[in-house]
Amino acid sequence: MSSSFPTVSELAAEARRVYGEEFGGDAPRAAACAPGRVNLIGEHTDYNQGLVLPMALPLVTVVVGSQTSGKDVTVVTAAKDADEPRRVTFSLPSDGSTLAPGLPGWANYVKGVIQHHRALPVPGFRAVITSSVPLGGGLSSSASLEVAVYTFLQQLMQDDGDKVSTAVACQQAEHTHAGVPCGIMDQFVSVLGREGHALLIDCRSLEATPVPLRDQDLVILITNSNVRHSLAGSEYPTRRRQCEEAASILGKDSLRDATMEDLEEARDRLDDVTYRRARHVIEEIERTARAAKALEGGAYEEFGRLMVESHNSLRDLYEVSCRELDELVSAAMEVEGVFGSRMTGGGFGGCTVTLLQTSATERTILHVQERFGGTPTFYVTTPSDGARALSLL
Ligand code: GLA
Repeated sequence: MSSSFPTVSELAAEARRVYGEEFGGDAPRAAACAPGRVNLIGEHTDYNQGLVLPMALPLVTVVVGSQTSGKDVTVVTAAKDADEPRRVTFSLPSDGSTLAPGLPGWANYVKGVIQHHRALPVPGFRAVITSSVPLGGGLSSSASLEVAVYTFLQQLMQDDGDKVSTAVACQQAEHTHAGVPCGIMDQFVSVLGREGHALLIDCRSLEATPVPLRDQDLVILITNSNVRHSLAGSEYPTRRRQCEEAASILGKDSLRDATMEDLEEARDRLDDVTYRRARHVIEEIERTARAAKALEGGAYEEFGRLMVESHNSLRDLYEVSCRELDELVSAAMEVEGVFGSRMTGGGFGGCTVTLLQTSATERTILHVQERFGGTPTFYVTTPSDGARALSLL
C-alpha cells in the first residue's frame, strides 16, 4: 500500500558494497546520514524570518568513505534515478580559490559543502552516497545530501560541532553552488530534527522548540504527486523578491515584523500581487504559531483546519500550488478521519502532507489513488532524528 523504504543500516550496507566495487582496497572508515524533511505548516515563511513547523523524516541520505592522502575527491552516487554520470572526480583548490560548480549537477552540493565547511581545509577523500529521499520530490533531497556530506566531513576533521552553524553553512552551499536562494528550514531540520517531535523554528532567532508528535492514533501521510513543473526553479526567487519589496514598502526589515494592520494601511502603495504575497506570509506566520499550540494540546481538528487554510492561501494568494497538488488535497479531505492536508515545500509539484487518524490510513490511500489522475507514491512517516555519524563496525 504505502511505499516501504530502506532503513539507515540497509542504505549504509549498500553504500559499503558500492564502495568496495568502486574503490576496492580498505573498507570505508567514516559514515554519516542526514534526513529529508516534511513541513507540516509555515510555508514560504522561512526567508521572511518567520516561523516554520517541519519534522525530519525516516528517509535519509547516507555518505560512507575515507580520507585520502592527495588533494583529489572522488564521489560516487548510487541513486537509482540519477540521469547524470554517477561518478565524479575533482581536485581541491590548494590556493584558497573557489571550487566552481559544474556537471554533474548533484556534485555541486558536495562542492558547495566543501567550500563552506567550517573546518577548512578539507582533505582529499573518496565516498559513496546512497539515499531513500526521492530526488526533486519536495522532501529536501538536496538539504539531506548537503547535511550528510557535512556530517561525514566532520568525521574526517572536527569543527566545533555547532549545529546551527552547520545548517547555515549547508544553506550557503545551496545558495552558491545550486543557485537556489532558499531559507534555512530544510538544512536546519535536517541537522536538528528530533525523533518523536516536530520542530517549531523561529527563522529570525534561529531557535527551535521541539513539539511532541508521537500519538499512536495519528498518522502523517506524505503523498508524492510525482510531478514537477518547470516553474519550480524560477518562481522561488521571484516570490522572495516580492516579499522583500513588500517589507521595504512597509518600512520593515522583513515581513516577520509586519502585521495585517500595517499591510492594510499600506494597501494603496502596493500592487495587488505584492499585497497578496505579503498577506500570505503575515497570516501564515500567525497560523504556524497557532498550529504549534494546537498540536501541543492534541487539538488535531484545529491543526487540520489550519493546514487547509495554509493550502488555500498558497494556492490563491501565494500562487505556488498546481492542479495535481490541489487534487490530492481535495481527495484526502473527502475521507472521514482526515484532519487536514496541504501542499508542502516550495510548490509547483512535489508532495502533500496529510494528518489523519491511524485507523483511516488505508481508506485514505485507496481513495486518493482512485480520485487522482496520476500515479502518486505514499509514505507513512514518523518524526525522526537529525543528522548523525554512523558506526561502521
Ligand atoms: C523550499 C526552500 C525552503 C522553504 C520552502 C518553502 O523547500 O528550500 O527554504 O522556503 O521551499 O517553505
